[in-house]
Amino acid sequence: EHVHSAPVAAAPIVMASNRGPVSYTLREDGSLTAGRGGGGLVSGLSSIGRDSGAVWVCAALSDGDRAAARAAGRRLEPGDTGGHQVRMLDVPAATFAAAYNGIANSVLWFVHHMLYQTPLEPSFDAAFREQWAAYWVYNTAFAEAIAEEAAPGAAVLVQDYHLTLVPGLLRALRPDLRIGHFSHTPWAPPDYYRLLPDDVAGQVLRGILGGDRAGFLTERWAEAFAACCENVLSGAEVVREGGTATAVRFEGRTTRLGVHGLGADADFLRERAHQPDVEERMTALREQVGPGRRTIVRVDRTELSKNIVRGLRAYRRLLEERPQWRGKVVHIAFAYPSRQDLAVYRDYTAEVERVAREINSAFGTEGWQPVSLHVKDDFARSLAAYRLADVALVNPIRDGMNLVAKEVPVVSDHGCALVLSREAGAAAELGDDAIIVNPYDVEATARALHEALLMEPGERAERSKRLAAAATALPPARWFTDQLAALLER
Ligand code: G6P
Repeated sequence: EHVHSAPVAAAPIVMASNRGPVSYTLREDGSLTAGRGGGGLVSGLSSIGRDSGAVWVCAALSDGDRAAARAAGRRLEPGDTGGHQVRMLDVPAATFAAAYNGIANSVLWFVHHMLYQTPLEPSFDAAFREQWAAYWVYNTAFAEAIAEEAAPGAAVLVQDYHLTLVPGLLRALRPDLRIGHFSHTPWAPPDYYRLLPDDVAGQVLRGILGGDRAGFLTERWAEAFAACCENVLSGAEVVREGGTATAVRFEGRTTRLGVHGLGADADFLRERAHQPDVEERMTALREQVGPGRRTIVRVDRTELSKNIVRGLRAYRRLLEERPQWRGKVVHIAFAYPSRQDLAVYRDYTAEVERVAREINSAFGTEGWQPVSLHVKDDFARSLAAYRLADVALVNPIRDGMNLVAKEVPVVSDHGCALVLSREAGAAAELGDDAIIVNPYDVEATARALHEALLMEPGERAERSKRLAAAATALPPARWFTDQLAALLER
């Protein structure tokens, strides 16, 4: 397959995110194959903005992407990208690695998810300074590309912690644009945020405040951002209406704060979950689980913030403390590879595998394997597990929203009980019908799993229905159009 390039017209809407809707794999014979990009941001957004003349600016993430970006020239052909007009930035590999692995994923992600705990300590040394310089270069490449793509007065939607400097940089290049930034992560409270070196802490906030709007998935993250502005930037003033932070004034400009929850894409999921490949995988999973057994399902990227190891430990405690479940339940855990360039992620993956093996050797019997861990990414299999699940376990340490918590009840065949961390953004919307846990409390999580397994089928189905309704209240298309409308309001 070869890469096509698309004709260029000025775009009324520009989306910008590190990961785009498509990624390319370079085969040994030099040919390229296109696949779908992964992660919450992309799965939430890829269904929208297709016919709006929008251009999606993203980074080349791999050698395959870089080859495709070079072959295409300015924009990739929508036929190759699932219908989007995509401009993929061929940022030099070393700059990209320093900005993405170094700053975005090792520093900003860790701060907002509050993941620094001994021995994962922050170290803001000379290497960090080089990475921080690369983050500037990488953000500048985005700002320049957007400035080139955007029509006069266009709306620009900049996504996530990879691109915090873009709004400020872009404002300097193109004061005519309406610029919004949106955070798909939590935002750290000031005391934790201030782990960052003072200048860096200030530049990230100033970058976002260069835009007209700063959006967040829940009020809690918006409030934390406002508190950080007040705390870190001298002269920043938070505007409050009825106790809620609605804007930040700084250096003569006003950036409005918006809360836009992202819901599950019900139509897409329900349709996709009934395709033959999903049915096939359901048959395979059913066989693996064995007749009459309950299932506890989790689906995550193998990500420290997802708290997979504590989830496995809680399951182990369940089997230890409540022997009635031995042989009667299988924990289906999908932990898909993520950010494997980083040693902490590789170590974490190894630990997940080790703990799963330990449980299987401690409790497994001839006909029963207590944990069924799968690490190879397979969307159809995830959907199959969603449909089968009796219990879904979603226990992140912190999470901007968490779409799995929303997707499971939407596609569940017979209703499923949800054990959900109070630190996931989704808890603000699903709290009434989920069983809420403190993600650090392994004993409480084990009790919650027990309670979820015992839930009467009638109650479970009722709750699951209400969860699905709450989960789909804000479909991705609404998330997009609401934000766009808010951005264009003067
Ligand atoms: C989170 C972030 C996204 C990111 C995704 C996957 O959902 O908010 O911006 O794309 O994780 O992470 P990755 O590093 O693989 O893009």
